[in-house]
Amino acid sequence: MLEVKNLRYSYNGGKDYAVDGISFSVSKGETFGFLGPNGAGKSTTQKILTGLLPMQQGSASVAGIDVNGQKSKFFNKIGVSFEIANAYNKLTGLENLEYFAGLFDVPTRDPGELLKLAGLEEAVNMKVGEYSKGMKQRLIFARSLLNDPEMLFLDEPISGLDPTSARNIKNVIKGIKDRGTTIFLTTHDMHIADELCDRVAFLDEGKIVVLDTPRNLKLRYGQKIINVEYKDNGRTAEEQISLIDDTGWERLHVLMKEGKVETVHSKEATLEHVFIELTGRGLD
Ligand SMILES: Nc1ncnc2c1ncn2[C@@H]1O[C@H](COP(=O)(O)OP(=O)(O)OP(=O)(O)O)[C@@H](O)[C@H]1O
Ligand SMILES: [Mg+2]
Repeated sequence: MLEVKNLRYSYNGGKDYAVDGISFSVSKGETFGFLGPNGAGKSTTQKILTGLLPMQQGSASVAGIDVNGQKSKFFNKIGVSFEIANAYNKLTGLENLEYFAGLFDVPTRDPGELLKLAGLEEAVNMKVGEYSKGMKQRLIFARSLLNDPEMLFLDEPISGLDPTSARNIKNVIKGIKDRGTTIFLTTHDMHIADELCDRVAFLDEGKIVVLDTPRNLKLRYGQKIINVEYKDNGRTAEEQISLIDDTGWERLHVLMKEGKVETVHSKEATLEHVFIELTGRGLD
């Protein structure tokens, strides 16, 4: 569905590459996570793939249509939600969606229904200038679904939303995924990436450092730590043991042999561990 080959992009005419030679493909119906630290080049990539920035080097196609090809044909197939909300402040939420719906040459979904889906039913007739940041973000998300796109690009659709709204949008994304829509999802939320994505790519300094399923990455890079509770002079003691080398295994063996162990829990590796391991930084 999405084919990207040797994509490179520089904002300053070739000295530094914000996107530095990336290639990947996303199959039909797949949810592909695009992860990485601030400034890694995620938004730049999405902007190129959605035709907002020019293609400087490399190539990309969506559903067999070249990103540089005929614009209207391309725009009819994709939905895009940007990191920074861009909507008409003087129009209401409903008027915004009606206006954008008119730009498509394909049948569009009912704007009122989409606003409801994004939890904006009470703000339908409010001017977008009066919307809060999270409301604007949800409006942009609703707008990205207008043409019932085959391929949906979402850049940080959830960051900045309150927990209830975040859960609602996450569920909507799940529903879209279940309908077979291909999704390119950029996010800093490792739980959401883990839950929604079939595969994820970690981008760092414009390059893909690793690309795999969340499960494989957690197995490969996650911490292998177990939490052991054992009896120690009548009291319960707790110890975290790393199993990456023999010392840990020996310690576990000793505790087991002494028959003192009460519980053993493996600490589940998370994508956040993988992120830190791969990029050497935590999330800001
Ligand atoms: N309009 C611009 N002009 C010049 N440089 C830019 C512009 N937009 C982004 N950059 C630079 O390109 C690099 C990649 O930025 P980009 O916005 O793609 O990162 P990102 O991965 O989306 O980060 P974040 O997680 O903060 O959203 C950064 O070094 C950034 O400073
Ligand atoms: Mg970004």
